[in-house]
Amino acid sequence: MTSHATIEMDEVDPLVYRRTVGTFATGVAVVTALHDGEYHGMTMNSLTSVSLDPCMLLVCPRHGSATGKAIADSGEFVINLLGADQEDFSARFVGQFEDRFTGVDVEHTPTGTPLIAEALAHIGCSVVDIHRAGDHDIVVGRVRFCKERSGEPLVFFKGQYGSFVARGD
Ligand SMILES: Cc1cc2nc3c(=O)[nH]c(=O)nc-3n(C[C@H](O)[C@H](O)[C@H](O)COP(=O)(O)O)c2cc1C
Repeated sequence: MTSHATIEMDEVDPLVYRRTVGTFATGVAVVTALHDGEYHGMTMNSLTSVSLDPCMLLVCPRHGSATGKAIADSGEFVINLLGADQEDFSARFVGQFEDRFTGVDVEHTPTGTPLIAEALAHIGCSVVDIHRAGDHDIVVGRVRFCKERSGEPLVFFKGQYGSFVARGD
């Protein structure tokens, strides 16, 4: 049966929005940058591929976040896509560690931006544009390098970590 119910448009409670948008399952990335000789990195799932020609993507760090500032000031960042067994990296790059990189095996771009060596895939970018959007920034990056290894991704859905199971049909 077809429903003709009208949806009411009203101010949306941010917590309700957060819970609802959490129904959109994503992968999990740690976005890394170098600023004033210091490594920065934060867990992000606001990653969207934008363009293939040229190759571009976007991420949305909270306005004023340490990593967001490092990305803006250095003009370069790396997306480290996490594998199914790398929930510990996701937690580490959210947490209040003195240094989130302690004990993490790191590689570098030619300009010194850190890569989490064990990640499932890496996408290196230079910043093309930054747009303020509410309490976050939209950072648009031009893709400079890509590398990946085989393995399953870490998945985030409704505030919980999980893994991907292919239907196999
Ligand atoms: C799965 C997951 C995804 C996240 N995605 C984002 C995001 O896209 N943008 C953001 O600003 N914070 C995101 N966060 C929260 C940040 O990782 C967290 O606030 C972090 O402490 C910010 O780093 P900073 O303290 O260096 O600024 C996410 C957290 C988790 C666990």
